[in-house]
Amino acid sequence: MRQRPRRNRKSAVVRAWTTESALSSRRLVYPLFVHEAREDVPIAAMPGASRLGPEGLLREVDGALEDGVRSVVLFPAVAEELKTPRGDEATNEAGLVPRSIQALKERWPELTVVTDVALDPYSSDGHDGIVAEDGRILNDETVEVLCGQALCQARAGADVIAPSDMMDGRVGAIRGALDHAGFQEVSILAYTAKYASAFYGPFREALDSAPRGGDKKTYQMDPANVREALREAALDEDEGADLLMVKPAGPYLDVLRALREHTTLPLAAYQVSGEYAMIQAAAERGWLDGERAMLESLLSIRRAGADVILTYFARQAARALT
Ligand code: PBG
Repeated sequence: MRQRPRRNRKSAVVRAWTTESALSSRRLVYPLFVHEAREDVPIAAMPGASRLGPEGLLREVDGALEDGVRSVVLFPAVAEELKTPRGDEATNEAGLVPRSIQALKERWPELTVVTDVALDPYSSDGHDGIVAEDGRILNDETVEVLCGQALCQARAGADVIAPSDMMDGRVGAIRGALDHAGFQEVSILAYTAKYASAFYGPFREALDSAPRGGDKKTYQMDPANVREALREAALDEDEGADLLMVKPAGPYLDVLRALREHTTLPLAAYQVSGEYAMIQAAAERGWLDGERAMLESLLSIRRAGADVILTYFARQAARALT
């Protein structure tokens, strides 16, 4: 036999020569949930994750930095009485997210803080946009509020703004609003191909943010589509996005690959709550080796084309990689 591919796998040294992708803790972003209460409250469907109070947030970030994770993305669990149809709390400069950003940047100026732009945590309807009387999600009215939300986060010190709402034209509008206010250095990480996915279930439980009526299919993408992701990518790129994201990650590796081949921008992928929950649940039952499955899932996302990975496993993965 002339060709014996196994020769390139014969020892750890030769395998290291021929390995094509590698994970690094520097590519991981750690999503964190914050709430108004003092105490941390564990999230049942996301073993290991909690809604964090102010002290819990600092403790968790301290640990993350220690593990080698240098960036976080914040999601607020907003008190029910603060939720309104227009999501007004999203632009409150004294709100939970601005206060959390300030607390983090004061303690660790070098920490990279990413923030989520969308109305669902603040909306009494549980939608990412404003809901009209007939149930439609109003695009342009929503984009105006999102610009206010992005500015509020930038003023508090956010480094990267990540719109996850999927309204049309929001990347360009947010870029314009940021530039106009002097925030030229604040980046935009666009949720370019965000699918209407069942894998967000545990996250919606964590934030109590499930839609009160209907679903998100008029703004999030159909899981059947990939060409549409390329169209969204071209628009976000044109509107000034700095990085493009695919979400969820594991079930959409082909989308990540397609984007990789069509844009020169760096790509992010979000390994979402349901992907995390599946691995954690199987590992808890002893049905698979949790650490190996975690690392393999992340490496696959990297191999498919992600430069940056948002994952609830960030700390565990970073520890496993050192
Ligand atoms: C909403 C948002 C969602 C997630 C991030 N931002 C949920 C949704 O669209 O309903 C999901 C993240 C996860 O499941 O880990 N703007």
